[in-house]
Amino acid sequence: MELDDIDTVGVVGAGQMGAGIAQVAAVAGYRVVLRDVDERLVADGFESIEESLARVVDRGDLDRAAADEVRDRITGTTKLDALADAEVVVEAVTEDLDVKQSVFADLAATCDPETVLATNTSTLSITGIASVVDRPERVVGLHFMNPVPVMAGVEVVVGEHTSAETVGLAHEFAAALGKETWEADDKPGFVVNRVLLPWINEGIRAYDEGVAERDDVDRGLRLGTNVPMGPLELADHIGLDVVLDASETLRAELGDRYRPAYLLKRKVEAGDLGKKTGAGFYEYD
Ligand code: 3HC
Repeated sequence: MELDDIDTVGVVGAGQMGAGIAQVAAVAGYRVVLRDVDERLVADGFESIEESLARVVDRGDLDRAAADEVRDRITGTTKLDALADAEVVVEAVTEDLDVKQSVFADLAATCDPETVLATNTSTLSITGIASVVDRPERVVGLHFMNPVPVMAGVEVVVGEHTSAETVGLAHEFAAALGKETWEADDKPGFVVNRVLLPWINEGIRAYDEGVAERDDVDRGLRLGTNVPMGPLELADHIGLDVVLDASETLRAELGDRYRPAYLLKRKVEAGDLGKKTGAGFYEYD
């Protein structure tokens, strides 16, 4: 299969990441089928796409009519077999190996053997996810960054059996979505989360241990290293539960340097998960 053969993109999981992936694929002109397990979750995905498209229209990158066309290129569904015609499927369901393997087993039973089966996993093994399908050479990591419509890059992750053809297509497909790519081997955390998670946890510890006030930890990193967000505000943006879960996964593989900060665990226990719940290290409207 070649890039030009791709017409329909399937996205499994209509959460923040899945909705963002569906949106950028539709903006790039693809027909998109967005699937989640119940109607409510599909509707939430569309709501998030509408909100994001409104921002894109507000900043003049798309006119309203074009945004409506983008919206119309996306079909929502709860049925997995609606993805049967997709040439590329990107899975963006919860970060749980059993759940992802079950989705991939279903996809292998539904999709053409040539279909590229991509996972947006942030920390799980591509090889482990691919182990349940009869075509592991078609399985690849396409790790999008949050917020998907804004972030410039996508990490292409190469599993043990991923073929060179699939890797090449993954780069070309991401480029067709307007993203730059880099490549990582299938080792825990790939490149981005391997480096980012200790940085976030160390920022939380610096605050918790009184090295600096909350705002000064973030200001220090923002002004001192020219990143758009400091570690505490970025953790709130990603979701503290996601940061905790990813840190635990990497700790199991890479050891204690990935130990989650105590204050991160306490916030998650308290249900303060960041922007999405209205409170994390900061308060949100
Ligand atoms: N959809 C469309 N546009 C959006 C958007 C969205 N969801 N979110 C923000 N924007 C646009 C805004 O409209 C705005 O456009 P404008 O400048 O033309 O007005 C622009 O992006 C900036 O947004 P804001 O003014 O609201 O806020 P900021 O300037 O603070 O930018 C941010 C927000 C883009 C999130 C920026 O702070 C940022 O880049 N932060 C770092 C994010 C990051 O590092 N993400 C990666 C996390 S790691 C990851 O995802 C891996 C995973 O596995 C954990």
